[in-house]
Amino acid sequence: MQTTFTILKPDSIKDGNAGAIISRLEKEGFRILGMKMVQLTKPQAEGFYAVHKDRPFFSSLIAFMTEGPVIMMVLEGDAAIDKLRKLMGSTDPAKADAGTIRKQFAANIERNAMHGSDSQDTAAFEISYFFSQLEMV
Ligand code: RTP
Ligand code: MG
Repeated sequence: MQTTFTILKPDSIKDGNAGAIISRLEKEGFRILGMKMVQLTKPQAEGFYAVHKDRPFFSSLIAFMTEGPVIMMVLEGDAAIDKLRKLMGSTDPAKADAGTIRKQFAANIERNAMHGSDSQDTAAFEISYFFSQLEMV
C-alpha cells in the first residue's frame, strides 16, 4: 500500500468535472484518506510548485492554480503513485493516452485537470504540506 496526493485543479472545479474525476478514482480502486476544498493563496501555490520556480511557465501556473478553488485528496492504493500518474496521462492532453483523465478532461498543457505526486519523496512532502494527521482517516 502506498499513499499519494492529488489536486483537482481550478479548471476541473469550474467545468463541473470534479465529481466525475472523484468517481473515476474510486472506480480505479483508490481509497480517499483525506479531502478538502480550498482556494490556494499565491504563497501556498508557489511553495507547492517551488520545484518549477525557474521555469518559463511558473507565473502562469501560479495564476492558474489560484484562480479558483481546488479539491485536494490523499489517496491510498497498491502502487498508488505510479497508478495515479498513469491514470492521469501525459502533462499535455494532446499527448495523453485514450482513457486517461487528462485526455478526457484537460484543455491544454497548463489547464490539465489534475495534479499527481511523481515519487515517494514528493508524495510525502505534498501530503504534509497540506494535511495534518488529524485530517486523514
Ligand atoms: P503536476 O505536477 O501538476 O502533476 O503535472 P506534471 O507532473 O504532469 O507536469 P510538471 O512538469 O510537474 O508541471 C507542473 C504543471 O505546470 C503546468 N505546465 N505548464 N505551459 C507549459 O509548458 C507547462 N508545462 C507545465 C501544468 O499545469 C503542469 O501540470
Ligand atoms: Mg509534476
